[in-house]
Amino acid sequence: MMRAGRAAALIGLPLVLMALGGCAPDATGDRAGAASGDGAGAASGDGAGAASGDGAGAASGDGAPNGGPDAELFASDDNVLAASAPARFGFGAEASAARVAMWDIDVRPDGEGLPAGSGSVAEGREVYTTYCVACHGATGTEGPNDRLVDPVQWDDVPTTRTVGNYWPHATTLYDYIRKAMPQLTPGILTDDQVYGVIAYILFLNEIVPEDAVMDATTLPAVAMPARDKFVVDDRVGGSGVVR
Ligand code: HEC
Repeated sequence: MMRAGRAAALIGLPLVLMALGGCAPDATGDRAGAASGDGAGAASGDGAGAASGDGAGAASGDGAPNGGPDAELFASDDNVLAASAPARFGFGAEASAARVAMWDIDVRPDGEGLPAGSGSVAEGREVYTTYCVACHGATGTEGPNDRLVDPVQWDDVPTTRTVGNYWPHATTLYDYIRKAMPQLTPGILTDDQVYGVIAYILFLNEIVPEDAVMDATTLPAVAMPARDKFVVDDRVGGSGVVR
């Protein structure tokens, strides 16, 4: 008869492996199962990857749930593996405030997180011509990559989905361009250049005038044409969703 602890281990391990990026195991074959040491697939004992079977830890490929000596480790009610693990593994380092700050660059819809600096439409035209035109076209409509400009609005069904007629918040431009553009060399623009190219894109979309200057105050104040086309998704899921 199977003890409760073992049942929990058998059920829990595939879930762990799925979380690591593996696929759902087929538990029907006699050697099947997520932790099968020799099986093919994400949890393959010889394969590379997070669930590599030769690695230590819970995803060890020696097939504990298949029986054999390790099975008792998984089955035990005391967590033997955890108890025998060292307090620290000795790699990595404390994240310093400076390192966290490097990653803490999100900009919220209301503008929280916007840096100091500013950029005009004229300055942004220079930035756009240097860094963006090859992929987004001379007027932001030609591509070859995403179209950035379309001042024509729509009612029920979007005709195009661009900054000019689909993006509800101007501040998202800062968040996105700073992190992701230019696509092959993201991060090379200064804060002023990001503000400038945003001003230029908003100008091309006929949202701001040609003398506009974008900064941490003016950018959140831009009223995007599509701002009312989205609703807050307040749907509540099934019984598993905790409010
Ligand atoms: C090497 C090509 C390339 C360059 C250069 C480039 N982009 Fe992009 N851009 C892309 C691609 C590809 C996408 C779509 C990315 C995606 O959907 O994941 C994109 C998407 C965007 C979007 C989002 C469009 C939307 O509505 O979803 C914006 C805004 C944007 N780029 C701005 C810029 C700006 C500003 C520059 C110059 C500073 C720039 N891009 C330079 C290739 C490029």
